[in-house]
Formats: sequence, structure tokens, C-alpha cells
Amino acid sequence: MSEVSLNTRRILLIVGGGIAAYKALELVRLLRKAGAEVRAVLTDGGAQFVTPLSLAALTGHPVHQALFSPDDETTMGHIELSRWADLVVVAPATAGLIAKAANGLADDLASTTLLATDKRVLMAPAMNVRMWQHPAVQANVARLGGFDGLHGVALVGPDDGEMACGEFGPGRMAEPAAVFAAIRTLLADAGGRPLAGRRAVVTAGPTFEPIDPVRGLTNRSSGKQGYAIAAALAERGAEVTLISGPVGLDAPDGVHRVWVETAVEMKVAVDAALPADIAVMSAAVADWRVDGVASGKIKKAPGGPPSLALIENPDILAGLSAPGPKRPALVIGFAAETRDLEENARAKLSRKGCDWIIGNDVSDDVFGADSNSVTLFRRGVADEIWPRQSKADVALTLVDRIVDHFA
Ligand code: CTP
Repeated sequence: MSEVSLNTRRILLIVGGGIAAYKALELVRLLRKAGAEVRAVLTDGGAQFVTPLSLAALTGHPVHQALFSPDDETTMGHIELSRWADLVVVAPATAGLIAKAANGLADDLASTTLLATDKRVLMAPAMNVRMWQHPAVQANVARLGGFDGLHGVALVGPDDGEMACGEFGPGRMAEPAAVFAAIRTLLADAGGRPLAGRRAVVTAGPTFEPIDPVRGLTNRSSGKQGYAIAAALAERGAEVTLISGPVGLDAPDGVHRVWVETAVEMKVAVDAALPADIAVMSAAVADWRVDGVASGKIKKAPGGPPSLALIENPDILAGLSAPGPKRPALVIGFAAETRDLEENARAKLSRKGCDWIIGNDVSDDVFGADSNSVTLFRRGVADEIWPRQSKADVALTLVDRIVDHFA
């Protein structure tokens, strides 16, 4: 899987009163690490278990605690707070908070925010097993899930297990990683799937050109950037075929992967994946292959090393970009350069006939790394230099541009 990014997404976290409140701290850490901005509301009960100071330090923002606080209401009042978020998360969600939300009770900051928000709400319940199984709690949970549209509350957990009170059964708050995964899924839904109905073909990784049955020519591409792009396209709803050279990466969720080894196989696979609306050719295709691959292992001979005759591989990107009925509406190539990035990338844009080029500065440590610094070159548009960022964020930024292009 590509690295998960929630870059610039906003989470309002309501921390209820329960021993599981400590898990909220780990959740904040996971969210921040993924690039999300987090603001926290701490209930009076929650403040018995975690301090406002730890939440403030981890979120990097003051913690909101009181409904009628002159300070809070002038900086960010409860209505604004409830609208600021992309998603509201209640973790831990106590029986009391669930009951208030299910019945429209608004007597503190947390419950008022839950009524005032126009965003989806995710709750991670945590309570004693008897409490969780009580018909009153179950009725409230059913009621929350049944509200129409946006008002329907999503749940994650509770898990089965031993409880702090020594009893056993459902009631433990879901682990922070599970809450994080649920947040990610809800945000993907909320962000919509603007590329639904569009087909995309992405190439990634190196090619491997055999010399004989045991040797070959290849390069140091890890495939990470191409895989991240395939993942981001699929997350925004595109139907993605990922044509991959030999790499050690898992196929991203919802992506159809086709394994290839050589440039010729890659070209055949790309042609077979057409028609497509979007093509992103991120593979590091070997420019040459060996003419006359030996059928048996080449042995050391007294005459010295063999000489390899090379012939040129087909240029997949140039072939795809040539005018014709099967040309994808948007063809994007990469230019891996160690110097004169702009000049070389712009020259590649015209030579290959593609629409956009992502100029990749490979003079520093890019191969196999998790971050990348790139510039987007488009015809008739000024260069867009993106700051060095994770390959997942490069992919998301690129896919945002693709969404804009088709909008
Ligand atoms: N590419 C391709 N088929 C090839 C060679 C390259 O589809 N046989 C694609 C790559 O996937 C990339 C773009 O072309 O999107 C540019 O690759 P690069 O290796 O930078 O360009 P080359 O054409 O090989 O130019 P040079 O080696 O001279 O820089």
C-alpha cells in the first residue's frame, strides 16, 4: 500500500470521559503524522482521564472545553468549530454522549457541536459490556445510525475483550489504527469520487531486459511514485490498470495490476488497457534491450567477456501520445533528470507529444525514497514547482490537477 495521506484534512475530535481516552492521544498522533489538522473538544469527563495540555501539545491548538467561554467564542465558537471540520470524530464515545446525540440534547460543548455540525460524525464507543448491551444504549445506537444522510452516525468498534473493570465482552474502544482507517474511508467518501467512470492506465517500476536466462539489464526505480499515483486515482473513483515492472510493492486497493518484465511486454500491456481517459507513464523503461538474448547461460570463455549488442526499445509514451482514435484524453509522462530540468522536460514534452510532464529532479536521493521534489510542466502554462513532499502527496496533488482538468 502507498503511504496514507490525509494532508490538509480537518478533524474535530471530541474526547469523552472514559479510561479509553488515552487512546485518543495516539489517534491524534496518527492523524497528525498523516498530515491532518486536528482540533479537540474535551468533555468534563474526558478531562478526568487526559489533560487539556497533552491534547493541546499533540494537536498544536488550544483545546475547547467550555460551551460558554468568552475566549473560545471569540477565537472559534462552537458553531464555527463544528463547520470547520471535514469530519467529526467522537473517541471515546461514552453511553452519555451517545444518548445525548441520539436524543438531540445539547447541554455542553460536545453535544452542542454534534447537533450543530453539517459534517459526518464517526463514533468509537467505549463502555462497560453491560452498559453497551443495555437495550437503552442499543436503541440509541440504532437511532444514531438511522438518521438520514449526513446526520447518520458511523460507528467503529467497540471491540471484544477484557475491560478495565475486569469484565469481558464488547465495549472496548476500537484501537487507534482502526479508528484512523475508518476516518480515512469516511473522508474518501466525503471527498467524492470525481473520476468515477473514467479509465486510467499507469505504468510503474523498472523494466528488466534479459541478457540470458539468468542475467539482465534493469534500473533502480522502486515503483513507489507510480503505485502512489495508481492508488490516488483509484481513491478518486477512476478504474485503474497498473502495469508494473518487477517491484516488491502490494497492489493498491481497487487497482487492477498487470505484471510485466520487458519494455516490449509493457507496451503490449498498455495497448491492451486502452481505451483510457488518463495515462500516466511513470515507469523507468529501459531505453535498450539486448539483441539476440542467449537461450542458455552465457559461460565465461577464454576470449574474454562477450559484447552485448543493444537495440532500441519502443517508446511507449511517444506511441501513446501520437494522434489517433485510441489516444487517451490526457497523457502524462515523467522526465527524470539530473540537470537542466526545465529545458530537458520542456524538450521531452514536445518530443514525446504528451500533454503534461512531471519533471523529476533525481540528482539527490529519489530512487527508493519516500519523498520526491517535482515540477509540473504543461503546454502554455507556467511551470508549477511543488515543494519536496511525500510520494503519496505528489500523487494526491497530481490527481487534484487531473480532477480539475476534467471538471
Ligand atoms: N518512456 C517510455 N518508453 C520508453 C522510454 C521512456 O514510455 N522506451 C517514458 C517514461 O515512462 C517517462 C518518459 O518516457 O514517462 C521519459 O522517460 P525518460 O527515461 O526520462 O526519457 P527518455 O525518453 O529515455 O529520454 P532520455 O533518456 O534521453 O532522458
